[in-house]
Amino acid sequence: MRIDIITVVPELLKSPFEASIMKRSIEKGLVEVHFHNLREYTTNNYKQVDDYQFGGGAGMVMMIEPIDKCISKLRSERMYDEIIYMTPDGDTLNQSTANQLSLKGNIIILCGHYKGVDQRVRDHFITKEISIGDYVLSGGELGALILCDAVIRLIPGVLGNETSALTDSFQDNLLAPPIYTRPASYKGWEVPPILTSGNFPKIEAWREEQAYQRTKDRRPDLLDE
Ligand code: ADE
Repeated sequence: MRIDIITVVPELLKSPFEASIMKRSIEKGLVEVHFHNLREYTTNNYKQVDDYQFGGGAGMVMMIEPIDKCISKLRSERMYDEIIYMTPDGDTLNQSTANQLSLKGNIIILCGHYKGVDQRVRDHFITKEISIGDYVLSGGELGALILCDAVIRLIPGVLGNETSALTDSFQDNLLAPPIYTRPASYKGWEVPPILTSGNFPKIEAWREEQAYQRTKDRRPDLLDE
């Protein structure tokens, strides 16, 4: 998968791709990530990418021209499956969207800043609008990173068997069951005996029951879906 991220603050984006799973996905050749500084696509001398709102109102708006130039250049080089705009009024990111995106070949992620982008960008270039939750960030960059992390770990081959995504919370609309590791007894706090019994069918049944109970207690909305 190739991910092109368009931003006015590329320095916010680099380090998460230099550690852990996202770094390994790039090293394995399964993912390519490219950052594009929108200021390099401006035609004015001040490298200005935003301007006042028509009609008045507080807050600057990202202009269409540099965004058009950047997206058009990328599209002249390859086909894109999705052009995603990170925005608090987009569809809330969930595991199903992450699963779908993990199967794509090339995607562009546009990070909004200030009040957001000129509506014509959304009308004419964007194929998907994603929010990471009902709160407003200073820009789309941190949201884009969260989206990348959620998607990249699902790309076949990125996670080994030991970290398989198949048993994650949400993967089957259930939260994950409780997990334990050594020691089996710590300060008198015991691991549920079933987990050390060696009876794998019973362990599996226990996990399913725990996952169901946890989902019922914490996120009953998931059981309705
Ligand atoms: N940009 C600002 N707030 C955001 C949010 N909640 N999700 C995605 N992008 C954003």
